[in-house]
Amino acid sequence: MTAPLSRLAATFQVQTNRLYRERDARLARGEPVVDLISGNVTEQGIRYPQAALERVLLDATRAARVYHPHPLGQPEAREAISAYYRSHGLAIPTNRIILTPGTSLAYWYAFSALCDPGDEILTPRPSYPLFDEIARVAGVRVTTYRLDESRDWAIELADLEARITPRTRAIVLVSPHHPTGAVASAAELATIAEIASRHALPIIVDEVFGEFLWGMDALPRPAETRAPLVITLNGFSKLFALPGIKLGWMALSGDEALVAPVLTALEALSDAFLPVNEIVQAAVPGIFREGQAFLREYRSEIARRRDATLQALAGAPTLRFVPPLGGFYVAVRVTSPVSSDDEDLALHLLRSTGCLVHPGFFYDLDPTHLVLSMVSDPETSRPALGRLIAALAGLT
Ligand SMILES: Cc1ncc(COP(=O)(O)O)c(C=O)c1O
Repeated sequence: MTAPLSRLAATFQVQTNRLYRERDARLARGEPVVDLISGNVTEQGIRYPQAALERVLLDATRAARVYHPHPLGQPEAREAISAYYRSHGLAIPTNRIILTPGTSLAYWYAFSALCDPGDEILTPRPSYPLFDEIARVAGVRVTTYRLDESRDWAIELADLEARITPRTRAIVLVSPHHPTGAVASAAELATIAEIASRHALPIIVDEVFGEFLWGMDALPRPAETRAPLVITLNGFSKLFALPGIKLGWMALSGDEALVAPVLTALEALSDAFLPVNEIVQAAVPGIFREGQAFLREYRSEIARRRDATLQALAGAPTLRFVPPLGGFYVAVRVTSPVSSDDEDLALHLLRSTGCLVHPGFFYDLDPTHLVLSMVSDPETSRPALGRLIAALAGLT
């Protein structure tokens, strides 16, 4: 008998890729691996203050003793998120916010509410592969619009509009973008809002890196445009370096006639699971309140690490990159020799330097690219980047 799996479940039986097999083999042999790709800052020494978190969580256990769920999430938590947007000059009322157990699941909710099987969502290319997986699980097709490296990874607006088909159900934006670090400008967003209006399409925007801007003061937001319907996603994973807390949200804005039915659908989906831990929900106001000083320190520490990473990369004779305007990652182009297989290149670098970086194809970048995280501690990353750059320079 073959395993009784759905077609979808059968696709999960594939082996891990060659790069991760090599990493695991090295670790099993006791050889060091310097991870220059992880965006998990908790493993890089950046952690929400322990004493404050304990206090907030202890209070939250008291507040959550009587189970009284709300399908949108507890009003106090949503009010704290609404206040967060207010502090950034954006009015999103409490009753337009839905809590989720992380941003990833928020994508799933949004796709499930907006798409029938076989419908399309239009996403950036290159991109972090997150929504490929989620769309597959939701039975939705992913189509792509291009970002143009020669214009600092600007969105190719004509391409975006040309990719819209009768099956397109939403435009996904990621700003700051992972892995290019591009931040969509107010002008780009105004044009995308017009396109979205013309085609009556919602915009789903992922702002998980929105607090991490490099050289600009404020994040331009689709929710500030005249787009008909915007679903803004964010959560505590990156914002407060609390990925294990599993708290994300969707904030809806736009025309009331469009917002209200989508909200009703999302509420019903959430009500089917009531998936967000009640203690975590009760802790949300406290995490915002107690986290402000930490957020400032965390942001300047990431800025320091970003600068150190980019300074090291700028000295590399065979690398070029667009300095990221936001986020944790940088996509670098290897200028010489032009590799035809970036996975081979990443494997070679892992074997010869002990450094783990991602091949560009993981992100739909062309094979002359590698992707690195900028959040590693410079104590570790500086010598590792030195080895990496020397190995790349030696590839002639
Ligand atoms: C652009 C982007 N969106 C969403 C996520 C996932 O967020 P969460 O941990 O809230 O599911 C990540 C994680 O790295 C990300 O890079």
